[in-house]
Amino acid sequence: MSEHVAVERRDALQVIRLNRPEKKNAITRAMYATMAAALKAGDANDGVRCQVILGQPGAFSAGNDLADFLAVATGGEGGTEVYDFLLALAGSAKPLVSGVDGIAVGIGTTIHLHCDLTLATPRTVFSTPFVDLGLVPEAGSSLLAPLALGHQRAFALLALGEGLPAQEAKAAGLVHAVVEPEALDDAVFRTAETLAAKPPEALKIARDLIRGPREAVVARIHEEAGHFRARLRSEEARAAFMAFMSRK
Ligand code: COA
Repeated sequence: MSEHVAVERRDALQVIRLNRPEKKNAITRAMYATMAAALKAGDANDGVRCQVILGQPGAFSAGNDLADFLAVATGGEGGTEVYDFLLALAGSAKPLVSGVDGIAVGIGTTIHLHCDLTLATPRTVFSTPFVDLGLVPEAGSSLLAPLALGHQRAFALLALGEGLPAQEAKAAGLVHAVVEPEALDDAVFRTAETLAAKPPEALKIARDLIRGPREAVVARIHEEAGHFRARLRSEEARAAFMAFMSRK
């Protein structure tokens, strides 16, 4: 279990909070493992009616830990933690509500494509600089983002690397509501509690219908992962990671 992810119960909610503020919540392999275990445990627990994913004030997440990426790029073993997490996320059985304030890079953006309701703050900017890093979209985002945003906005986000501010994300359909930073947690909890109070069987059927079959999403996660793994070891990616690690 990683100390950088806090998992707690709030009555019928399970709250998973990224807790590595000194690194803007960059996500390590241990953090993915903890989040995957928490999602699965929440799904298996009848007392949990809704799962909540939160970051820190000013930083939901700066994305995958680039030191972890560099380790793979320079010959290290990748591990399966991120894929275990993505599969737990894509296959989650309970409603997912997320709250985002500030930085939301890479997986810090694509995670929300799997959430049923996302609340963000005015200073939030979603961004996925995959191509600039020599990488490709992940987490099923190459399938889910065009469905959510349309081709042009998805392409601008995923390939052009253009940031998507919260208000635009709301207009585009990626975000349910925009609230002030100091009101974010309460608004997220209220939203999740409202869902948790619904008749659970009806809510589950409704959610499954709205999300549709997951097979295509899971297949896309695997397809992207094949490319991603190869790209991690590319010269383009290695150069980008080293530039970040040595920028100061
Ligand atoms: N992986 C590892 N460490 C990261 C990180 C990441 N993805 N993002 C930030 N950090 C670390 C920084 O190295 C820094 O550590 P240090 O204080 O020990 O030097 C600390 O977090 C704070 O980051 P800093 O860059 O100083 O904050 P900032 O507010 O100026 O910028 C970002 C924030 C997110 C714009 C910038 O950190 C960034 O571009 N990060 C990389 C994002 C990325 O490409 N993620 C991968 C997506 S696939």
